[in-house]
Amino acid sequence: MNTVPTTNRKLIAWVDEMVKLCKPARVHWCDGSQGEYDTLCREMVQHGTFTPLNEKTRPGSFLARSHASDVARVEDRTYICAATKEEAGPTNNWADPAEMRKTMRTLFDGCMQGRTMYVIPFSMGPLASPIRKIGIEITDSAYVVVNMRLMTRMGKAALDSLGDGDFVKCHHSVGAPLKPGQADVPWPCEPDPNKKYIVHFPDDFSIWSYGSGYGGNALLGKKCLALRIASMIARKEGWMAEHMVILALTSPAGKKHYVCAAFPSACGKTNLAMMRPSLPGWTVRCLGDDIAWIRVGEDGRLYAMNPESGFFGVAPGTSMKSNPNAMLTIVKNSIFTNVLLTPEQDIWWEDMGVAAPAKGIDWEGKDWTPDCGRKGAHPNARFTAPAAQCPVIDPDWESPAGVPISAFLFGGRRPSTIPLVNEAFSWEHGVFMGSAAGSETTAAALGKAGVLRRDPFAMLPFCGYHMGDYLGHWLSMAKRTDRSKLPKVFFVNWFRKNADGKWLWPGYGENSRVLKWICERVEGTGKAVKTPIGNLPTEDAIDVSGLAMDKTDMQALLAIDPAGWKAEADDIGGYYAKLGDRLPEALKQELAALKQRLAAGK
Ligand code: OXD
Ligand code: MN
Repeated sequence: MNTVPTTNRKLIAWVDEMVKLCKPARVHWCDGSQGEYDTLCREMVQHGTFTPLNEKTRPGSFLARSHASDVARVEDRTYICAATKEEAGPTNNWADPAEMRKTMRTLFDGCMQGRTMYVIPFSMGPLASPIRKIGIEITDSAYVVVNMRLMTRMGKAALDSLGDGDFVKCHHSVGAPLKPGQADVPWPCEPDPNKKYIVHFPDDFSIWSYGSGYGGNALLGKKCLALRIASMIARKEGWMAEHMVILALTSPAGKKHYVCAAFPSACGKTNLAMMRPSLPGWTVRCLGDDIAWIRVGEDGRLYAMNPESGFFGVAPGTSMKSNPNAMLTIVKNSIFTNVLLTPEQDIWWEDMGVAAPAKGIDWEGKDWTPDCGRKGAHPNARFTAPAAQCPVIDPDWESPAGVPISAFLFGGRRPSTIPLVNEAFSWEHGVFMGSAAGSETTAAALGKAGVLRRDPFAMLPFCGYHMGDYLGHWLSMAKRTDRSKLPKVFFVNWFRKNADGKWLWPGYGENSRVLKWICERVEGTGKAVKTPIGNLPTEDAIDVSGLAMDKTDMQALLAIDPAGWKAEADDIGGYYAKLGDRLPEALKQELAALKQRLAAGK
């Protein structure tokens, strides 16, 4: 063991207890230094976990290949162990906390034999933020340590900031102890899906993760702490932990607005967060691409802060067309997991916008050619990169106070019915919109096309308590400040299709045209018409200058389809019914009011 770098008694006692339970061969307290990072990367190269990439084309970067069974978050193995099943609600898996504690202790007993236990102190949020949270993750994965260094403020500074304070206990093991003399593998994990566990205990806010070394299963600061646990803490403390991007928009006149947006997976969140606007004179700056912690500031406005310090983005589909700023972020000092390795020791993935190499090594470590019938990169292949490397990172992205939000955007992939953009009448109507967010599955992703999955506030897999209470928490923000200070709420849909199945809206940088209208609405200038579903832009309100677009396309993008909306309202009703008597009254009223307005046609 290196020297224990803290006098925090609770921390020392907990680490001692965990060492006794997990029985590692050695313990390493992480200081977060570059030297430590480099050493761990070098060791992982020797071990076969990492392949160094070409120093000329991708300096300081590595490729990792996971075990084929360990490629994504395991939602069906994720538990909220509240005192009762009712507290966890109908959208979470629940297990009895006492039973689950026993299961975890049994699994963790001896789980690190033959391995190093790393102790990772980390902060979610800039250290000076009033709502930053310190977590300590114990893990037996060096891959986790180096990723945590990119994704969080990790090491000595976090430990110093903790002092004698309380911390979130994050227990992680890949679940692959080594017997004496047993050879290790490049990506140890528990291959049996039924033995993987991602567990959250609301009574002490602790996290136990067993069996996986991948992404949100293992980098416990992200989904486990910054969303599931933080959503529980935020509810108690009166703030919000949300699955949202944070971006800044500046008009040619120099007016700057900060916007937070929540979309379900595969709806272009990271692309929006770093968008290159097509409208001349407008700029977008990025503050975060996945999570926002939001609180009422001293002036009564809502302030958003990104608790992370890196991006863990989906690689396939990322290109100079879809997200040039992400491509420029990952030119160096990045970790790529489950992408294709080219003969030049660089990386490639499907829809990267560059020709596939004539041959390569695929994410499973097999020889690959473009005609071999297999994908080179896993569809959930990822890059991990420091946010500071993003060419359009906002100068205030680490502001401890966060940034004041002008607008919330909700959205999803909705080929029919939902207009390009729709402004809520009120905070309650906006919460109704967020609660009804959802996305239609695509054939490529889930086999059955056109199935709508409701994903309220894009928090379905990440809300740490009863979804009905969570909706109530959103509504309660109107009591925590002056309503006039609350952000305006909009629902956007870049994915509406015409009768021939073609997308009506060009998307990507052209979405800046919609953002411009949103800014105008915030400033009280944008033209809108009141409709049964919300305030829609008038046909000429969205700036389409320079865009080859038919007038009828804009009409179609903004059209209200009465039959589609009736079905939509019924479907929302069906979803609400699942939330039982914890569904807030105000949302029942919003749904009833929508139905009435639709029936009246105004
Ligand atoms: C993510 C997700 O990985 O939302 O960010 O699944
Ligand atoms: Mn996410």
